[in-house]
Amino acid sequence: MTDKELRELFDKLSLREKIYQLVQLSGDFYNDEVISVGPKSELGITQDVVDNSGSVLNVIGAEKIRKIQSEHLKKSKIPLLFMADVIYGYKTVFPIPLGLSSTWNPELIHKAYQVISEESTASGLHVTFSPVADLVKDPRWGRVMETMGEDSYLNSEFIKAMVTGLQGNLSSNSNIASCVKHFAAYGAPEGGREYNTVDMTERKLRQEYLPGYKAGVDSGCEMIMTSFNTVDGIPSTGNKWLMNEILRKEWGFNGVTIADYAAIQELIAHGIAENDLEAAKLGIEAGVDIDMKTPCYSNNLEELVKSNKISEDLINESCMRILKLKNKLGLFEDPYREATVERENSVLLSDKNRELSKKVAAESLVLLKNENNILPLSKNKEKIAVIGPYADNKAILGLWAFLANQNDVITIKEAFENKIDSKLISYAQGCEVLSDYSLLGEFGRASIVKNEVIDKKMMLEEAIKISEDSDVVVLTLGEHSMQSGEGGSRTELTIPDLQLELLERIKELNKKIILIIFSGRPLILTDIVSKIDAIIYAWFPGTEGGNAIADIVFGDENPSGKLTMSFPYSVGQIPVYYNHFNTGRPLESSTRNTRFKSRYLDAPNEPLFPFGFGLSYASFEYSDLVLNKNILSPNKQIEVSIKVKNISNVKGKETVQLYIKDCFGSVVRPNKELKKFIKVELNPGEIREINFNINEEDLKFFRKDMKFDLEEGMFTVYVGKNSKDCLSKDFNLKI
Ligand code: BGC
Ligand code: BGC
Repeated sequence: MTDKELRELFDKLSLREKIYQLVQLSGDFYNDEVISVGPKSELGITQDVVDNSGSVLNVIGAEKIRKIQSEHLKKSKIPLLFMADVIYGYKTVFPIPLGLSSTWNPELIHKAYQVISEESTASGLHVTFSPVADLVKDPRWGRVMETMGEDSYLNSEFIKAMVTGLQGNLSSNSNIASCVKHFAAYGAPEGGREYNTVDMTERKLRQEYLPGYKAGVDSGCEMIMTSFNTVDGIPSTGNKWLMNEILRKEWGFNGVTIADYAAIQELIAHGIAENDLEAAKLGIEAGVDIDMKTPCYSNNLEELVKSNKISEDLINESCMRILKLKNKLGLFEDPYREATVERENSVLLSDKNRELSKKVAAESLVLLKNENNILPLSKNKEKIAVIGPYADNKAILGLWAFLANQNDVITIKEAFENKIDSKLISYAQGCEVLSDYSLLGEFGRASIVKNEVIDKKMMLEEAIKISEDSDVVVLTLGEHSMQSGEGGSRTELTIPDLQLELLERIKELNKKIILIIFSGRPLILTDIVSKIDAIIYAWFPGTEGGNAIADIVFGDENPSGKLTMSFPYSVGQIPVYYNHFNTGRPLESSTRNTRFKSRYLDAPNEPLFPFGFGLSYASFEYSDLVLNKNILSPNKQIEVSIKVKNISNVKGKETVQLYIKDCFGSVVRPNKELKKFIKVELNPGEIREINFNINEEDLKFFRKDMKFDLEEGMFTVYVGKNSKDCLSKDFNLKI
């Protein structure tokens, strides 16, 4: 439809029809099965609202969506928008985002998000609530699994790759609109407790927490979702400063904004609105276009206009933005966007998509330890005991892949049996994931029905017995997938006790142990590391997880994942992150025993594994860090070069990381900050010169005067294999 035609359509709408465009309901209003992820409420929505509402939440499937759309169009002239949470995979599921970011390979992840878009649109979806741009430094928060970790620059690089992968130029019916969330700073709740207060300085917010969302906006994302939390005492969903001043005015965002699930009505529980009417007023005044799953807008906006409490312009603007998105997606021409069962059959879980998922999963795995190069295992030689509650477990998709089918998952046991002589493999579960599932609560379709009577002792003894008879034990342990994700905050970040008991018993056998850990967050591994020969951190690796792990374990793939969050030494250290301030009394390692230093009496300051850390079966040696000049002036750049040599006899991938420290500033600057990285593949013995350019853009920050700009002075460049092991050189900026 032309802009003129759209305008004409708009002009014919009544105020009420315009308001109803701002309402999003879930499938139960259309007699669909509900996938409800938020607190349920008695909504008080009339049939008139349902018949004229603007969008639908979490209904999937070409057939179902076509049916709802065609019924809807009998009553309304405006097609519905179908939106859903396809966060890291629709039917072909990729690793959780914390795993995706561990690939340090945005180009690869761009391809993954093209697949996500291709699959979701085949099933009729128009918008996905993805990607999650929340920066997070606290692994107690369950939604850390949905994020790209603790670094703002790395986060932004992935957000760009994901948004452009999903949307393309939106002209094709296999591109989906992207909704970046949760604006803003949802990843910094106090104490890591879900939905809790966020309070930070404006400088920190702008410097670290906002760039991820801004990267989404700059990449053209069509939508932004508000967050549940407060920022400086005001919940985002009613926060004019965030939503209008920053998002719309400063960043020029002119797409559609949506409140997170029931967040407009939750302004009442927050205590800044007394009732639905006040909540609706705060939401619309903050420029929140769509009210997800509450009657606040549908039942109150008209009254607010008629009593002159809000300007009708606000509703016109919001409605027009939604109509424009519908038009951009071509819904007025084809309200189904060519979603068909045939397209689903050819696209969903295709061999090509599975292959990419496997490749991504293999790159997301992080090798944390490999004593005496025990890995990779040789094929068809040793007898392998595959033990533990994750050895033959299909629940390795992570919480937010609830639209996928777990039966499509390849387990470790299945993958091992496909790869090597199955006579060499013996399997026993050993124990359950948890001894008590009741704490997990419900999550849409992912509700837990468990705890049939099992003989725990027998399970354990069977695992011990087959381990005794084997040469090497592949032990698979981890958190339950519902221990992370929304509503999955924890204070003890350990592997569940009954699994640790299994580990201890296996340990007594003096066998070689390879531990594979499944988790939605960094766990505390301090007591475990020394007991085990090799550790692979597998996150929740997705549909092809088992195959990817088998490829790594048997050396068909060489691990290349690196951590994007520091792994704490203990919970008491949290938050522990690489780009911290120095303090006035930094703890130098040589003065460890001095009391009056910034440190703990009972734990190191350093995490157990630093940001950027991850091993390979190859070894890389760094040398000859050279800067082509030691003074940088405006409009010029410094060329940084370093030699990286593969000193092993296997081919391997290495992510070379460049950090910069601004040594003296008008405000305290971080110890170092990631500025560049590149992932390269080197043959055995190969030496490669890696080059980076540094220019003034890389040195800007929010200065004392809150301008994002430069300051003269000394800087240190660090280049290395992780945030800790680097070579360094200084230079000066002269303006
Ligand atoms: C989550 C969002 C999600 C929404 C819709 C909320 O509970 O916070 O991330 O997009 O539900 O399902
Ligand atoms: C302490 C102060 C004390 C000062 C002089 C510092 O280390 O922080 O509280 O007054 O020493 O003894």
